[in-house]
Amino acid sequence: MKTEELNHENSPTEIPALVASSYGVTVFDSLSRVWQRCLAEHLRKVMAGKTSVLNWKEPVDAIAEAEAFLHPDAVGQLTEQERARKFESLLEKMLTSGQNLHHPRYIGHQVPASIPIAGLFDAVGSLTNQPMAIYEMGPWATAVEHAVTRNLCRKVGWNPDTSCGVLTHGGSLANLTALLTARNVVFPDSWEQGLPQNAVLVAHADSHYCVTRSAGILGLGTRQVVKAVLDERRRMDPRKLNELLTEQKAAGRQVLAVCSSACATPIGAFDPLQEVADVCRAHDVWLHVDAAHGGAALMSGTHKHLLAGIDMADSVVWDAHKMMFVPALCAAVLYRDQAHRFQTFQQDAPYLFDPSNPGMAEFDNGTRTIECTKRSTGFGLWGIWALYGEDIFEQMVDRTFAMAQYFHECLRESDDFEPLHTPECNIVVFRYLPTALRGGLAEIMDGLQQELRSRLVKGGDFYIVQTNLNGQAALRVTIMNPLTTELDLAALLEELRAIGQHILSNQP
Ligand SMILES: Cc1ncc(COP(=O)(O)O)c(C=O)c1O
Repeated sequence: MKTEELNHENSPTEIPALVASSYGVTVFDSLSRVWQRCLAEHLRKVMAGKTSVLNWKEPVDAIAEAEAFLHPDAVGQLTEQERARKFESLLEKMLTSGQNLHHPRYIGHQVPASIPIAGLFDAVGSLTNQPMAIYEMGPWATAVEHAVTRNLCRKVGWNPDTSCGVLTHGGSLANLTALLTARNVVFPDSWEQGLPQNAVLVAHADSHYCVTRSAGILGLGTRQVVKAVLDERRRMDPRKLNELLTEQKAAGRQVLAVCSSACATPIGAFDPLQEVADVCRAHDVWLHVDAAHGGAALMSGTHKHLLAGIDMADSVVWDAHKMMFVPALCAAVLYRDQAHRFQTFQQDAPYLFDPSNPGMAEFDNGTRTIECTKRSTGFGLWGIWALYGEDIFEQMVDRTFAMAQYFHECLRESDDFEPLHTPECNIVVFRYLPTALRGGLAEIMDGLQQELRSRLVKGGDFYIVQTNLNGQAALRVTIMNPLTTELDLAALLEELRAIGQHILSNQP
């Protein structure tokens, strides 16, 4: 590396050697080629299913190993070639020690095998570091964020000139942000004086834990979360919601918001939003829809009916890092009424940022998010949308939803598995229940599911998750990889069956 490439002729002092090396564009150029080769080889292997899915290691061992890298010998003396070799070995370590989401047999949590090219756009944000509290610090990142949120609003069915949105680091933060806005709109004095004692949040009984957590953070208190009753398909029951809101009013309580799900995490059930919205309107209550997982169904002509009525919501959360298949994190908070955009934080409102130019507050995203410095989270989504158009999202949704239907059919046709619901999206919950065990002790059935999952995952051939539904332990898959095929799903059942038989015959 030529350190002189960083030392301006007139610089009175020399840039220290390690600093010069780490900033050298020649070094960057050569290491990025190594990076490109390693990543492409890795993806090729993983996508072809030639690696384990999860590279399991006990956490303490993994931490010790990672820490050992932080005490290298004499790095200062490495030649650039030695450093390049070391760079490659570090990459190798990273790539062989993780969860391989791009493996077709990763069928686990609601985190996708992200579109690799989206990672390339994201990497531009990492590399050029465009933190975006204010427009000037990330002008293009801000433009991209406005462009994608305007288009998400359009998909929700809102006019992008009268609605608005902001990106945050994840669905949990997005729900907190939306509920904070609702709190400030519904209780305008709450920012300064706190919430009245009679405030409650009505939430889908299966809502993601971040909703109750938000109630704790917002000063409402988790005990002030009232669970909305679900129907037999685990969807919010609008008739019961109506009764509940009537009861709350009669009891002198004030509702901060109704938090509905599209879809809810446990089995992916979509609330009947149209009816829920009608009830909320009749009671003049803020409707928040957590569409972190299911929002992307709006991109699909076949499945968008699941979200009919979402345009009547006051706020919506939609995670692009779930069913739009971009890398974590990219979550949108969307408001139907643009007037609410500065309600999240009321202290000095927008003009704090540049008193001489109040119009710029519109584009200083820090006015609307909990974060001050924020990663340019929109590049992956914007890049993929620009490169492939909306159709790619439709294809992703249709493909993964169809695979879940296929899997459900397989479960129904087998005599040793039991599907616990009919899937509405790409989430399927089921149990392994060989005929001989049916009607047996609940603890034995539950223990069997847990042991099955543990052995399966540690074996490395598949990754699925476990859950608890109606008090029963169960297995859960979410098809988050468009490369997962019918063959992978059939093989999963075969493997579960084989492990199950081993367990039942008391073999280790
Ligand atoms: C319905 C729903 N809301 C919110 C979240 C939380 O999103 P995140 O993990 O991005 O914080 C999840 C996560 O699975 C979810 O399923």
